[in-house]
Amino acid sequence: MIELNLEGCSQFVTKEKFAEFTEKAVAAKKILESGTGAGSEFLGWNNLPSSIDSEQLSAYLEIVDDWIGKSVDLVVVIGIGGSYLGAKATVEALSHTFTDYFQDTCSGPRVVFAGHNLSEDYLAELMDLMSCRNVACVVISKSGTTTEPAIAFRFVKAAIEARYGRQEAASRIVAVTDRSRGALRILSESEGYRSFVIDDSVGGRYSVLSPVGLLPVSVSGFDVEAMVRGAKDAQAALSGDDVSNPAVRYAAMRNALYDSGKKIEIFGSFNPKLQYFGEWLKQLFGESEGKGHKGLFPAYVTCTTDLHSIGQYIQDGERNLFETMITVKNTRRYAIIEETSDNLDGLNYLSGKSVGHCNRMAQTGTRLAHIDGGVPNIEIAVESLDEYNLGYMFYFFEKVCGISGYMLGINPFDQPGVEAYKKNMFALLGKPGYEKETEQIRKRME
Ligand code: PA5
Repeated sequence: MIELNLEGCSQFVTKEKFAEFTEKAVAAKKILESGTGAGSEFLGWNNLPSSIDSEQLSAYLEIVDDWIGKSVDLVVVIGIGGSYLGAKATVEALSHTFTDYFQDTCSGPRVVFAGHNLSEDYLAELMDLMSCRNVACVVISKSGTTTEPAIAFRFVKAAIEARYGRQEAASRIVAVTDRSRGALRILSESEGYRSFVIDDSVGGRYSVLSPVGLLPVSVSGFDVEAMVRGAKDAQAALSGDDVSNPAVRYAAMRNALYDSGKKIEIFGSFNPKLQYFGEWLKQLFGESEGKGHKGLFPAYVTCTTDLHSIGQYIQDGERNLFETMITVKNTRRYAIIEETSDNLDGLNYLSGKSVGHCNRMAQTGTRLAHIDGGVPNIEIAVESLDEYNLGYMFYFFEKVCGISGYMLGINPFDQPGVEAYKKNMFALLGKPGYEKETEQIRKRME
């Protein structure tokens, strides 16, 4: 479960204003759960955790067992945006920080990601890695036509087929895609790939608790059952409409702050393992709320690292921001600072203390300094960084995002703005069907 602390906002938002926004949040939650708001055809995520059964989880594990049986040691997971960030966030949060350097001692396949950029170097280097590993692939695309993953899949598929032959390749490629539409569905059927369905009612950035996130997490060797249990507990705990519901309270406060002129929400953590969780948050909130020239701009900082760079701005720059810090209360490991005889670095006053203690004091000190500097602070704490709490947090933030979107008066489940760059890129690349746009854009560039 999560603990929400809004104390760090009390001097910026009056009790009356918070009460007013809490009422708005309760109303928005009713709209969300009754399916009467804009984009209500994309509410499948709301009840996704409780719909997951052990049969689904076993199907992922069957694939893992099959690949372990073939001694697969590298699985390339292809996807972008919502078809990438949830799995990447989970794998990064749960993995040993230096996992890449332990390659000979780890058991089970290692997961790497592709299809989330158009970097030629990245793709070429992936081919280098694949050439010396025993490889399988999970390709994830709801539409099946997104340019970045489609290009990466062409290369990865060709490399796997060249190495193992087409028939064996079919047992090494698994697709996660739409039930009936799109190129990837057609290909899966014609090639005989095993496949999983992304339901029509689940949009990309709300899909981490579907096969989109759960299959790569299973392949990485993490406990998806615990992740789903965390999400199920969150679904149950956050279903009430009352004013003590943390999803309602957090949505109320962030919207009250936005209304008071705070236009940027800086998410952050003092745990570097949450960096990609921060990327997931940026997509969830940025793609959901940034519409009609409205919405909080989501940023992410890793502390204390970023306190030595962007920390200056947070403390002292424009006062149009607030921060939401994710605290992991318990570390997995301990490192105690020892006394030295010369004490040249002056650290003996910390001898016997853990590095975690120093990190906690840094966090408390930063929080107070930022509040004194005019930056409201929201704290979201979990006991430990594990599958259960990640599952809980994924659902929690999705719920907050849905509620917040309706409070803002926008559709939190579409992403019309993403099309603008694609249209220009297709015109510039000369994609069939874009002839008029190609002519127009070339004129602009003369
Ligand atoms: O949230 C979204 O809908 C997007 O970020 C998509 O997930 C992303 O564009 C990838 O789309 P697809 O899964 O169709 O390849």
